[in-house]
Amino acid sequence: MNMHSSAAAACPFAGKDGSADTAFADDVVAGLGQPEQKVLSPKYFYDAAGSALFEQITVLPEYYPTRTELGILKARGKDIAAIIPDGAALIEFGAGATTKVRLLLERGRLGRRLGAYVPVDISGEFLAGQARDLRHDYPALTVLPVVADFTTAFALPAEVAAMPKVGFFPGSTLGNFEPDEARAFLRSARALLGAGAILIIGIDLEKDETLLRAAYNDAAGVTARFNLNLLVRINRELGGNFDLSGFTHRAVYNHERHRIEMHLISRKAQTVRVLGHSVPFRTGETIHTENSYKYSLDRFSALARSSGWRTQQSWTDPDAMFSVHALRAEAD
Ligand code: AVI
Repeated sequence: MNMHSSAAAACPFAGKDGSADTAFADDVVAGLGQPEQKVLSPKYFYDAAGSALFEQITVLPEYYPTRTELGILKARGKDIAAIIPDGAALIEFGAGATTKVRLLLERGRLGRRLGAYVPVDISGEFLAGQARDLRHDYPALTVLPVVADFTTAFALPAEVAAMPKVGFFPGSTLGNFEPDEARAFLRSARALLGAGAILIIGIDLEKDETLLRAAYNDAAGVTARFNLNLLVRINRELGGNFDLSGFTHRAVYNHERHRIEMHLISRKAQTVRVLGHSVPFRTGETIHTENSYKYSLDRFSALARSSGWRTQQSWTDPDAMFSVHALRAEAD
């Protein structure tokens, strides 16, 4: 995946993408070959064009998550910063543009109290630029960037070994993980950060279906372009021959599974060629491209508990659209 453009700032998965082109090719062939439901992984949304489109999504009037989480971090940043111990290492998973951590650093002198800030991101070049800017803006802050895929095992810098650890995972990216993947991520974060650590995490909440559907079917069609960009990418990178006008975007809410599902729907019976394979589509047949799970406070607490974390405090906006949680690692 192309993570070297500045648009990579918007990649919430920062590392979820298969690093080798062959992984993309293998996943596309396997996903489009599924007999029941064709699938493509959302990790492939975030090439340079997809990252730029996601950045546009975050400021759409219908897309409430980003602005609501920023609102919580602004309104409650002082309380959130207050639970971070002096001298702690703050480790951000998929740091991207570091916009959100800056809201914390500015609260309660956190920028001067931290032992270190450790942004973790797959894009080394982008991360180095962010680290340079942070050191400039917060001269007292020790910034120790780690270039890694945060969804797989990685090591923290030796300098933070003796510091209390606080993880930071905003953006509700956990919602794009299947429940077993979410548990696996939370367990590995628990192992990385250690007993007694804190994890500050942003989680999108269940709400009126009309608001959810609007957020993922925006009137300007940006989410549609974001979804269809997967096909553009397959055509460009894998020599596919998807006719973009033959597919349309739709996001639906699955009540039973508490998730928004994004699909690309074939408008006609057609056959597409990808990497030497013929992929037949019936009229109305879909490719399932993303799930975005929505939690209740209780269901998220239960997920955290089953993954070695106890909810210490939760904050929501006044309309309970989005939540930020401080989790405490349970003792071994
Ligand atoms: C990155 N992630 C939290 C977004 C979401 O809301 O699930 C991705 C997204 N997909 C469509 N719009 C935004």
